[in-house]
Amino acid sequence: VAFLRNCWYAAAWSHEIGANLLARTILEVPMVLFRTEEGRPAALLDRCPHRLLPLSLGTKRGDTIECGYHGLTFDCSGRCVRAPGQERIPPAAKVTAYPVAEHLGMLWVWPGDPALADTAKLFDKLPQWALSQGPEPDWGLNCGPYTRVKANYQLLTENLVDPAHVTYVHKSTLGTAAMADIPVETTQIGDTLLVTRWTLDSKAAPILQRFGKWAGNVDRWQYYWLYPPSIAVVDFGSHTPGMAHTDEARDEGIRIHSCHFLTPETEGSTHYFWLQLRNFAQTDVAVSRDITDQFVVAFNEDKVVLEAIQAAEQQPFVTERVKLALDSGSVRLRRTVARMIAEEQALAAVPAASGRGAGNASTLVN
Ligand code: FES
Ligand SMILES: [Fe+2]
Repeated sequence: VAFLRNCWYAAAWSHEIGANLLARTILEVPMVLFRTEEGRPAALLDRCPHRLLPLSLGTKRGDTIECGYHGLTFDCSGRCVRAPGQERIPPAAKVTAYPVAEHLGMLWVWPGDPALADTAKLFDKLPQWALSQGPEPDWGLNCGPYTRVKANYQLLTENLVDPAHVTYVHKSTLGTAAMADIPVETTQIGDTLLVTRWTLDSKAAPILQRFGKWAGNVDRWQYYWLYPPSIAVVDFGSHTPGMAHTDEARDEGIRIHSCHFLTPETEGSTHYFWLQLRNFAQTDVAVSRDITDQFVVAFNEDKVVLEAIQAAEQQPFVTERVKLALDSGSVRLRRTVARMIAEEQALAAVPAASGRGAGNASTLVN
């Protein structure tokens, strides 16, 4: 299975990791995530090098993990610091440590070459995040629960360059019938994809009407930004008909940046982290909860569709697929990610996901 490995991936919400040991598989690598006593995050291969018992089934002792079978103990760099019953620690008694960083309320891991890990490469296309922090934020923030989807991550990312599915999948929340026949526009800026659609002078989507409370029709925009391999920001909202199609004009309306961070777990499953930033009722906790609830419903609608497609793809019965005009974003996205993976593999700087790597990765905290 080919994944882009030299890349930061969201692995957990920061609040998921406290005093516990969290087992999570990232790009088919079983990892254990935890924090030191000081709160610094760490990620180790979740396999004891003795009999392969997952370290996540062991015990956290201070800044170390003690294996739950015979007590081999590892620090957060993966070095073995204790081998019960013997003085000499075998040189092979070590586990791989992965670079980690904390960013946007999440723990990120770098599954590729640790020498290339750099916090400067963390996702930085979300200026609204900084403006959502503090007591009087310009943007209101709500975060979804950790979600796991039994589908390949590219089924999820292609869904996020596909405004056309909204009418059919999200009838009760985001979709309206008027949008269905308006073609989408696809642009590529470097590796980044942008798929847009304007639906003019028509009824607002249910989720927005509740907050916009417009008396009549609205203009509605959808700007789907996809940052390969697997981060999406969907800028959508509505304002009075005749609005300018500029960034400033969109800020005047009811505007939401819906952010999706997708991390392959295996070829057929994906960790899904999502959050929304909104320019209204910024500090209203009830509104945050309400929006979260609405999106739990909406994204569950995607989950049902994508898991059914994944299951169909795995059936032995094979069918040809037909291409539609609305696939342009998906085609470009898959082509771009395939090229990035091929370039990375050509560099051959990617260590295999083996359990006996040197435990020399450092912890990067942003
Ligand atoms: S399996 Fe971990 S110490 Fe034996
Ligand atoms: Fe969707």
